Amino acid sequence: MKTTHKIINGDALEVLKTLPDGSVDLIFADPPYNMSKKKGLGWKYSKHITMQEDWDIFSKDDYFKFNKQWINEALRVLKHGGSLWISGSFHNIYQVGFILQHYNDVKINNSIVWFKPNAQPNITCRLFTESTEHLIWASKNGNKKKWKFNYEWTKSIEDQINNKGKQTRNVWAIPLTPKKEKWAGVHPTQKPEELLRRIIMSCTDKEDTVLDPFVGSGTTSAVAKELGRNSIGIEKDKKYLKIIRKRLNTSQKTLDIINQPEIMFEKFKSKT
Ligand SMILES: C[S@@+](CC[C@H](N)C(=O)[O-])C[C@H]1O[C@@H](n2cnc3c(N)ncnc32)[C@H](O)[C@@H]1O
Repeated sequence: MKTTHKIINGDALEVLKTLPDGSVDLIFADPPYNMSKKKGLGWKYSKHITMQEDWDIFSKDDYFKFNKQWINEALRVLKHGGSLWISGSFHNIYQVGFILQHYNDVKINNSIVWFKPNAQPNITCRLFTESTEHLIWASKNGNKKKWKFNYEWTKSIEDQINNKGKQTRNVWAIPLTPKKEKWAGVHPTQKPEELLRRIIMSCTDKEDTVLDPFVGSGTTSAVAKELGRNSIGIEKDKKYLKIIRKRLNTSQKTLDIINQPEIMFEKFKSKT
């Protein structure tokens, strides 16, 4: 089976506008969380343990506007019956949920707690160790179209919290992204492949199309490719394209020549 993987180098707010209505089956978005500090906090055992990325710094008003804009476009591009997954931490997830709750044709199906058993301790000793991220799973259910949920598959999920063969709980214990997945280069917030595997397997079938508007190091595209799904990734920062390119090309070796996936990189050119 031949799949297609497209990476568009541009601003998601612009690029999303050019994608057709109802054209993708699943959107996974790992947007800026607006948690970065202009001056990061360091300690003697590692360089910086707080985020300090320019793309993650907004004023409160700009951040709300940004979230409303990209979510609105993402929902337009999503098919009825399609799923929108958004990841976050306490910094942004309530705002994202608040925005989603305003749509009549959107249903929040679950919020998943991603528990990180090996999370870094809080060095200030003034707070609990932040060891979770949150994922909202919402579906667009206009036209009375119901969401896809591969329930039988989800019973195969196995971690420290879920028992294989039983109905899966909404707490997923997945360690931080392991070194072996970071071989292609450094991205400050690379997600573990296992997280994407669960999301894509739960809510899509083979040959469906998965879109990630903030694809970063390309985790979503790489996992979609492994799983026989088509993908579209958008990334604003050119410096991450090299990592994505490597991640998308490597497993090509394992695929049958006839069924080589098509991989396209393009720079977004605004029509205005
Ligand atoms: C939280 S990271 C995503 C990490 C990704 N899930 C991974 O596994 O590598 C967010 C990414 O979105 C990119 N970004 C930020 N604002 C953007 C925008 N407006 N349009 C497109 N990409 C953007 C950043 O450069 C960053 O790589």
